[in-house]
Amino acid sequence: MLLLHLSDVDEERWAKNLGELLGDYPLVRQNERFDPEQVRYIFVWKPLENAFDGLTNLKAILSLGAGVDALLKHENLPRNVPIVRFTDNQLTQCMSDYVVANVTMHQRCFSRYQNDQQLGNWTQFYPPPAWDISVGIMGLGVLGHDAAKRLIALGFTVNGWSRSAKQIKGARIFCGAGQFDDFLGQSDILVNLLPLTAQTENILNYRTFSKLRRTRLNGGPAIINAARGGHQNENDIARALSDKTLGAASLDVFNIEPLPKDSALWGLKNCYITPHIAAISNPENGAAYFARVLTGHENGKPLINVVDVEKGY
Ligand code: NDP
Ligand code: OXD
Repeated sequence: MLLLHLSDVDEERWAKNLGELLGDYPLVRQNERFDPEQVRYIFVWKPLENAFDGLTNLKAILSLGAGVDALLKHENLPRNVPIVRFTDNQLTQCMSDYVVANVTMHQRCFSRYQNDQQLGNWTQFYPPPAWDISVGIMGLGVLGHDAAKRLIALGFTVNGWSRSAKQIKGARIFCGAGQFDDFLGQSDILVNLLPLTAQTENILNYRTFSKLRRTRLNGGPAIINAARGGHQNENDIARALSDKTLGAASLDVFNIEPLPKDSALWGLKNCYITPHIAAISNPENGAAYFARVLTGHENGKPLINVVDVEKGY
């Protein structure tokens, strides 16, 4: 049996899509009556405290999200049950669209012309060509790798930083904590696509911002965070935007979502806020993906995209 336990998304639509694809395979939603011992798979997003109660025969936990940081912190998460996370072309394309749009906006000095427009100021400052600007991408997994390839194709100079060494044609790769400062010192626009773990929490802080290269981008370096709010120190971002350590920030994620009305970030010029919409798991593609995973596993195939719980992603 597959149990759906989804919060904050349209569970009914996911149930309909999965039901059509799984045929006779039994599927229940969290508020229906079912015998927990019959549940072999649970499909979750923001699971409630009691989500896993009584599920003694679980074969796999299926995560609607690509990021599993919150799930791994769930107090009652069953140990030793594999977790399969979502990856998919549409999610990746949407994330790269967000990254490319914001990188290009900063490279073309959008904030400067916005300011000039408000002042009625006609000053012909010419933005640098893309190849003069280095984009530093933190995290070179499914999303970071794709964003890097697309930015390279647009002519940007791309630096990448990950835990283990990587090869991406046309990108300069840095890895591990030892090369972090070098990586920052050669980056004008910093893009965060890391998973949230004990090692990456709060990585977007004032120290990080002050290590970025300051000589290329008019107005100062920019940051783009589309991963998790827990990566960023929001007081530090406000301070860095105010004292010009940063020229601009594009933020899609926040420590508290929705971003509280009294957050200083709302009112800051050069802070571009979006409400966690960079990318979302699509219910049609997602149902096809998880139906394939479940059916394959029932037929003896290994699970794919299994989270390494030790690493935290
Ligand atoms: P992956 O697991 O595929 O990639 C993670 C990358 O981060 C890997 O390259 C990994 O290095 C690197 N990494 C992990 N820890 C460290 C570290 N301590 N130091 C340096 N590098 C590290 O993740 P995805 O690309 O699929 O997704 C990234 C994140 O994006 C998700 O965890 C999620 O939080 C977020 N997300 C946000 C969305 C939104 O709408 N805003 C939508 C979807 C995802 P290595 O390769 O060496 O292991
Ligand atoms: C995800 C997200 O992790 O939407 O997939 O944030």
